[in-house]
Parts: sequence; structure tokens; C-alpha cells
Amino acid sequence: MDLYGDDTEPVDGGEDLFKPEYKRYKRKDRKLDLSDVIDLTKQTNMDKVEEIELQASQHPAVRGLKPLKEWKNYSIKGFPGFIFIKNPFEDGQQRYWIERCVLDYPNKPSKTILDNLVDMSDIDNIWTYSQNKSNSDITGKDSLIMKLRWATMGYNYEWNSRAYYDEMKSSFPSDLHDLCRYIASAVGYHDFSAETAIVNYYHMSGDMGPHKDISEIDHDAPLLSFSFGQDALFLLGGMTKATKPVCLCLHSGDICIMYGDCRLVYHAVPRILPASQDILKHCYNFSTVSNSCENKITPEENGISCQEKLEVKSVGRQDVNWDLFSQYLQCTRINMNVRQVLPPGGTNIADYPKPVCPSQNGRGIKN
Ligand code: OGA
Ligand code: MN
Repeated sequence: MDLYGDDTEPVDGGEDLFKPEYKRYKRKDRKLDLSDVIDLTKQTNMDKVEEIELQASQHPAVRGLKPLKEWKNYSIKGFPGFIFIKNPFEDGQQRYWIERCVLDYPNKPSKTILDNLVDMSDIDNIWTYSQNKSNSDITGKDSLIMKLRWATMGYNYEWNSRAYYDEMKSSFPSDLHDLCRYIASAVGYHDFSAETAIVNYYHMSGDMGPHKDISEIDHDAPLLSFSFGQDALFLLGGMTKATKPVCLCLHSGDICIMYGDCRLVYHAVPRILPASQDILKHCYNFSTVSNSCENKITPEENGISCQEKLEVKSVGRQDVNWDLFSQYLQCTRINMNVRQVLPPGGTNIADYPKPVCPSQNGRGIKN
């Protein structure tokens, strides 16, 4: 294992062109050169992308998303199957998902890294526990929430054997299932079943090494990946490391979809970067949420009425100390990474041979 990751798999097809790019963006001992990075917000390297249209989703719209016709979607030239949706959430609405990721999703029956580190038997809510214990130093080294690196829901990924098992399964949140089904349908996969998710919690020094996600039995369904909070550099490669990866800057609210030819390619997160305060304000600051309905979405296309929409807009979690919460978000990037595990109609993992997994060593956040 070297400093930059532990993926020592030989490169079929020639020289490793992935690792040098990963190192280049990860290393902190020289000035970071962002000149090759695709950034849809700053509009840099736009010649590497193409704007694409998605189709009308066959499922009811979900809370907090803009109408589909207002979304900005892109493909990356030379990387077919990768779809990038630039923050399709309404102003302020990401707060709902961020609160779910911090206040709810990591609690039982989900599995988290904390199960391996501390006795969790008396801790029902990691955030509340941390808030009460932290003496207002929520980002300090003794804060439990700062030790949270991943949580898994639905089929709980078993990190040692790199597999899913029928016996290792917790419930999957229906709100996240509906969100993913709506988005998957818009990219042409109409019966997506969200069966497992890993929620990754990165702090500013965190990264994720080069890997492929191949433990799922079904590889025809898309993989959906949501970014919230701080920015991340994301490397997208090919089926082998002989493909030079392209680097994208992901901002809060952005959605990456790995589908078709891109479902099984190498990817990595070499770097977390501070997000612009201006962008974050619009992403989850409650004060930016307008009180009017704005006539932006008709009930028919949205699936919820104007009145309901207003209610959604005014819901903020009362049990949260937002000051502490925003301190935590100030040094955190959250990634919800959602996959279908079984082929359509499948019910048991044991009915299928285990996928061969040579290349998942990099998976999991390192600090
Ligand atoms: C993963 C993954 C990417 C990200 O969890 O497998 O690749 O953007 N995450 O954090
Ligand atoms: Mn991955």
C-alpha cells in the first residue's frame, strides 16, 4: 500500500493513466492546478461536455426538485453512459436531504463505520448524541459525528468480502427510493429499485481511491450519486486504468449517473475543496427559500399541489441546532450513492453467483 491508495491491480492494456491523475489532484504539497477540470458552475472546459435532454419521468415528481424541463444535464465526450445533472433542486431544498443524511440515515437499522469503532448500543441518534456531548465543539476530534465516514442502508455492503448478503439487509428509506426512481426514469430506466445505498461523509482531508462498483448482481440499472455540502473533484475513467480519466468538480446538489457503458468504469474522489459560500447559501440556507409559489410548477407536472409545495418549503427540522449543523457542514461533503442490487424480478442474492470483484480496493473514504 502506498501513500496514494492501495489498489495494486495490474493494468490490463498498458500503462496506468489513472493513478498519476489521482495523485496529481490529491497531493497537497504543490499548488492545485484546476485548468483541466470540468466545472459546470464556473463553465470551464465546456468543450469536453455536451448538453443533453432527459425524458419525462414515468413516476410522480418528488419534493424539492425543479421541473424536469428546467434541469441542465450533460454527457462527457468520450465517456458514454455518464450523465451529469447540475443541481436540479429548488433553492433551499437540499436541506431536507442533508438533514436526512445526518439526522436519520446513519441511525439504526443502518450500519455505519461507528459500529466497528465504539459501543453503539445506547446511541440512537448520532447527531443528537454528538450535539449533547460536544460542548459546542461539534467539529472537534472527540465529536462522534466527525468519525462517521459511511453508513449503509438496504443491503449492507460487507467490506471484507466485498459482497451483499440476504441476511445483511436493513430497510431502505422510501423517500430516497422515490427520488432515485424518478431520476432513473428520466434517464430511461423506468423500474429502478433502490436496494442499497452508501452515504459517504467526507471531511476536508478525505478522499476515495480508484475503484469500480461491481458487487451488485445487476449492472444494467444505473448507479445514482448525489453530492451535498463541500465541493469534490471526481475522476471518471474507463474499464481499465489505461484510460486517462477526466476530472469534474462536483458541487452541492449535483447528481452523477453511471449507466450503460459507464456503469463499471474506474472512478475516484481525489480531493475535497471548500465550496463557495454563495452557492451553499442557495443550496440549503432556509432564508433563501421564497414564500411564494412562484407559479414555477403546475400541480400536474409536479404531482404535488401548490399548497403542499409551500408546506414542503416551510418544513425545517425543529430539533436541530442549525448553528452546530452548519459548522459540521462547513467541513463536510456528503455523497449518497444508490444502487439496484438484483435484476428485475429477483428476490434473493443467493440465487446468483457472486460477481467477481478484482477492483474495489479503493472503495471507502481515507483520511
Ligand atoms: C462510492 C463512490 C463517489 C463520490 O461510494 O462508491 O464512488 O462522489 N462515491 O463520493
Ligand atoms: Mn464508487
